[in-house]
Amino acid sequence: MQRVAEEARRAGKSIGCVPTMGALHEGHLSLIRRSRAENDLVVMTLFVNPIQFDRKDDLARYPRDLDRDARLAGEAGVDIIYSPGVGEMYPDGYATYVTMEGLADRWEGATRPGHFRGVATVCTKLFTACRPHRAYFGQKDYQQSLVVRRLVADLNLGFEIVVLPTVREADGLALSSRNVLLSAEERRQASVLFRSLSVAQAAVKRGERDAEKVRAGIEAQIRSAPLAVVDYVAVCDPDTLDALTRIAVRAVALVAARFGATRLIDNVLLEP
Ligand code: PAJ
Repeated sequence: MQRVAEEARRAGKSIGCVPTMGALHEGHLSLIRRSRAENDLVVMTLFVNPIQFDRKDDLARYPRDLDRDARLAGEAGVDIIYSPGVGEMYPDGYATYVTMEGLADRWEGATRPGHFRGVATVCTKLFTACRPHRAYFGQKDYQQSLVVRRLVADLNLGFEIVVLPTVREADGLALSSRNVLLSAEERRQASVLFRSLSVAQAAVKRGERDAEKVRAGIEAQIRSAPLAVVDYVAVCDPDTLDALTRIAVRAVALVAARFGATRLIDNVLLEP
């Protein structure tokens, strides 16, 4: 991968990188299409990264279908799929990890210990393999997009991070590779996540500035779905992810909840 990337760079070509764990859906494809429009060479990485999973059962259940992914990626404009094996990425004796303080310790980081250490480590390795000019991420994983921006700035990786909007189902549920794991009833109730966030968005637009009131409203609505188990609901500064008491300029509402064995996250920006 590194040799191919270096050759493309020497030929003056720009490289767009789309990191994924496969089980592609329209969210991934929106990143690929944008990368196709903005770069000469589009590399999608496909690697189910074991070290970012905090639960063994989640890793074991994670959906995998390389043939389907290869077809969809090709149709959306991917030139190269870089899909290393676990043994290639983490051979015996592997010992180097990227840890981030502050930003990575809260919310997803607090409920999934080691998660962002795994994400930051694998992204660093994928980036040094693909040598991109731009890398594409989804707002769906809002905190991840901030962690990756921080990583690229702190380690002087020297390329652009592009973050694109969350692609949703008709009922608002954010597309996720894990959605296929939901039972019919869990799937039906999971739409409460975006519904509760939309209510909050409207309240802030109408003038609500009390962040705790907004947060509690989201949480109460999610809890009204009998199968939902809330991990966290937060109303935060959109850059630092510090919890807010007042919504002055911009805020982001982050939610994480489990429906049966499947954990889902979502977020929206709140703008007065
Ligand atoms: P994965 O969950 O496969 O997601 C790959 C990319 O697709 C991420 O940037 C994610 O934010 C984006 N994405 C997922 N659902 C989306 C949606 N509904 N709309 C828009 N974009 C969406 O995130 C990862 O993989 C991994 O942590 C990874 C970065 C590849 C590191 O292992």
